[in-house]
Amino acid sequence: MHQEKIEAIKSAISAAEAGNEEELEAYRMKFISKKSVVGELFAEMRNIPNEQKKEYGQLVNEVKQMADAKFQELIDQVNLAKKHTKSFDQDLTLPPTNIAAGGIHPLTATRQRIIEIFERIGFNLSEGPEIEDDWHNFTALNFPENHPAREMQDTFFLEKNPDVALRTHTSSVQVRVMENQKPPIRTLSPGRVYRNEAISARAHCIFHQVEGLYVDENVGFADLKNTLYHFAKEMFGKETKVRFRPSFFPFTEPSAEIDISCLICGGKGCNVCKGSGWVEIGGSGMVDPNVLENCGIDSKKYTGFAFGMGIERIAMLKYQIKDLRLFTENDVRFLRQFKPML
Ligand code: DAH
Repeated sequence: MHQEKIEAIKSAISAAEAGNEEELEAYRMKFISKKSVVGELFAEMRNIPNEQKKEYGQLVNEVKQMADAKFQELIDQVNLAKKHTKSFDQDLTLPPTNIAAGGIHPLTATRQRIIEIFERIGFNLSEGPEIEDDWHNFTALNFPENHPAREMQDTFFLEKNPDVALRTHTSSVQVRVMENQKPPIRTLSPGRVYRNEAISARAHCIFHQVEGLYVDENVGFADLKNTLYHFAKEMFGKETKVRFRPSFFPFTEPSAEIDISCLICGGKGCNVCKGSGWVEIGGSGMVDPNVLENCGIDSKKYTGFAFGMGIERIAMLKYQIKDLRLFTENDVRFLRQFKPML
């Protein structure tokens, strides 16, 4: 009779499960505590005839050991489960918060956009050194010996060797490309340039330009105009107008300054365009035959156009930035505004 009861308790113990603290407590109440079924078996002892006590006692002790061992096993299981749920108690399907994403600097974004526009109409990319010699920066570009741009107040020369300077414009890359490649040449050269100027809202001693050069048979001024019309519309919007103002550069003949209709007032006149309705974005012209010859290109067979634009200038117009110094101050309040949308 006891035998049966004990067997039933044993199988209940081995079948018991506990997934959390409450179930663990329920197990304890049922099999471990004084009032548990195992406790009752011990209490039953006094009703067992003396000659059976020894045998009964052994059986009950076995059950007790089994219940204790099982209890420890369940405690370990619950603790293990708790450890796991602790590290996974976050909802991994929630979108992440507080990821500090960096932005693209407005000058980088502007340079990239300019490159994209010209690459799509067949211009490749070329680069030249920022430390340049007199030949590539001035002489090959037809600057006369006494041209004011060569003077100390404009150019950073190397103290020990006045033949070496920081380039004052990216036109030096034109010379390097023409010296090394045969026409047809269609190339775009973005880069950093240096001028010995006081830093202000409108001028800096370090800034960026992008140079364009197209040399082939029968390249004319109409090609220059159409290329820049295309660029202005792509960069600033379809409504943008372009105006060419006669000018002078030693390396182009004829030369023209490039103006676009003011983006702020649409040409009506405002303080950005100083009431004129136009803002300047760069210089351009037909490559002077002397320059072609200086670079070993037959000026009887080939003609070309060139242009040079300020990247800061274009970014300022595009994003309506009023002070050039903001580009280099690294103020996150400024830079954050150019964060790409995630
Ligand atoms: N190099 C000139 C400057 O820095 C800009 C320029 C004007 C570049 C006319 C050209 C050009 O290629 O044809 O002011």
